[in-house]
Formats: sequence, structure tokens, C-alpha cells
Amino acid sequence: MSPMNPLTILRYPDPRLHTVAKPVAAIDARIRQLASAMFETMYEAAGIGLAATQVDMHERLIVIDVSEDHDQPLVLINPEIVWASAETRLGEEGCLSVPGIYDGVERSIAVKVQALDLDGKLQVHEAEGMLAVCIQHEMDHLMGKVFVEYLSPLKRNRIKTKLIKQKKDEERDAVR
Ligand code: NI
Repeated sequence: MSPMNPLTILRYPDPRLHTVAKPVAAIDARIRQLASAMFETMYEAAGIGLAATQVDMHERLIVIDVSEDHDQPLVLINPEIVWASAETRLGEEGCLSVPGIYDGVERSIAVKVQALDLDGKLQVHEAEGMLAVCIQHEMDHLMGKVFVEYLSPLKRNRIKTKLIKQKKDEERDAVR
């Protein structure tokens, strides 16, 4: 296991979540280790996707696994959405950076994304359903956007207040 583990997941409203990620410059041992640590962190937290932004690494790297058995790991490096369906669907989303909050977000039902894999090979992925939603959600993270920003300001502020209080309570409990 890499000494980087476990990675700390930034939580909304941490301002670092709004950092725009830079392209990965070289797919080297450091990036492979980061991707591996991100998978472990994501599986540990029972998530289906994690963007490097969420672990305070501001490079265009995403790990995803929407399978139940954790056997379909997908790494997207410098991803670009090259096509998105005009048809959209309102679906419930959650986020490891916004624990305990689920709400509806309108997304394209299918996307085509182009990205490098860990071997530096350009791959095109056609995705629909949960995978398509997950890719769009994670790509938002790389642009510094968290899903709650699609919600009304009223809802968003309520979530912000709740998470700030939750964090304070945890910190207080930790020093006891
Ligand atoms: Ni998220």
C-alpha cells in the first residue's frame, strides 16, 4: 500500500473544491500512484467516482467504478466530453465531498468522453445511465464545480450551514 493512503477527501464548502484543475503533464509513477490511492480512498468511502480535485490534487484525473463488485475501474486522464445527448434526465446525486446530501441534478443521459488511460493511450468511452451521470459529475469537479451548485441558493445555503455545523461538531468531539 502506498504511503499516501488514506487520502483526505475535501468537504464542501472547502474553497479548494472550487480550484480549476490543470492537465496532467506526464503519466508517470506519481500519477499511477495517485490514481491507485484515489481508488482505495473511493472504495473505502463506498463511492463510485472521485476527482483529484476532491483530494486536493488539482490535475485532470478521475477514477470511477460504478460496478457492485469493484471490478470495473476506469481512469480518465485529461478527459474531454466530445458529445453529450440533448436528452436529459433529472436524477438523484450524492458526492463524497458533500456527505449525507442527495438531490436531483439534470444531466445528459449519454455522453462520449475522450481521455488518456494510465498507459497514456487515448481512449473513447461511450457511456449511458449511471456511468454517464458519474462522468459528468466528476468532470464538473475538475472545473471546480460541486453538484450542489445546481440547486437553488436556498437549498445550497441550507446544505452549507448543515455541513459547517457537522464539521464543528466532529472537531469538538475529536478533542474530547
Ligand atoms: Ni462528487
